[in-house]
Amino acid sequence: MGKIITIKNNKGGVGKSTLSKNIAHGLAMLEFKTALITSDAQNDSLILLGGWFEGGKGFKSFVQTGNEIKIKIRENLDYFPVETDIFGINLKNKIKSTFTQLKDSYDYIVVDCAPVFNILNDVILEITDEIIVPIKLDKLSTAGITRLIEKAEGDKITQIVPNLYRSTKISKEYFRNLTDFFDNTGVVLTNPIPESVIEEQLSEKGKTIWETQSKKAEELQGLYGDIIGGIIND
Ligand SMILES: Nc1ncnc2c1ncn2[C@@H]1O[C@H](COP(=O)(O)OP(=O)(O)OP(=O)(O)O)[C@@H](O)[C@H]1O
Ligand SMILES: [Mg+2]
Repeated sequence: MGKIITIKNNKGGVGKSTLSKNIAHGLAMLEFKTALITSDAQNDSLILLGGWFEGGKGFKSFVQTGNEIKIKIRENLDYFPVETDIFGINLKNKIKSTFTQLKDSYDYIVVDCAPVFNILNDVILEITDEIIVPIKLDKLSTAGITRLIEKAEGDKITQIVPNLYRSTKISKEYFRNLTDFFDNTGVVLTNPIPESVIEEQLSEKGKTIWETQSKKAEELQGLYGDIIGGIIND
């Protein structure tokens, strides 16, 4: 039975799609059968993997008809494109049964969750096994995270990942405060992932953090390795 791992933050631009591509590909490289699904009609995580969705039928059609539409984007990694993020309330049960079906075929289903409130995202948060939250270490993000924890789905949050980290006095202060906040909560606050030129370049080329020989990528690979370890060893 596969597990659903949702990458979620209601804030835009914090690295949800970037984390999704690197985590999903990392799991696939460990030979876990992995599906990458998104509720973002821009299909950003596909583009970050070097793919492109031509449009037409996608995840909504899959939900409606039961016919899978997927793109094999790497070995052991299938991407499920979404053609729209508008799902009627009448599709709630079908969305659930589609994910149940996927859990039979995949070890991990990574969901790159769009920062919007809609039926699809509601269902995903209801059925997900885990939530990983990328954040920026700034005032608005840290205020948002404490609110997210208080929500119903808050108890599914397993890891908080500071991303796009710049080593400034203020970020260090936020990191320290969050460390205190999450102490003894069972939620792992990971080491920060730096804002990095390597990530920028790899995204530009449609590659993941695992597809470079650059020495400079090793730090990021180590940080992602810890996140993936947290998923696998849960
Ligand atoms: N650690 C990093 N170092 C450098 N650039 C990064 C890093 N993480 C993300 N980025 C870049 O920051 C931008 C935003 O990242 P991303 O698209 O993953 O965020 P998102 O949360 O999915 O955004 P949205 O809310 O629009 O879906 C992208 O251009 C991405 O390549
Ligand atoms: Mg995104």
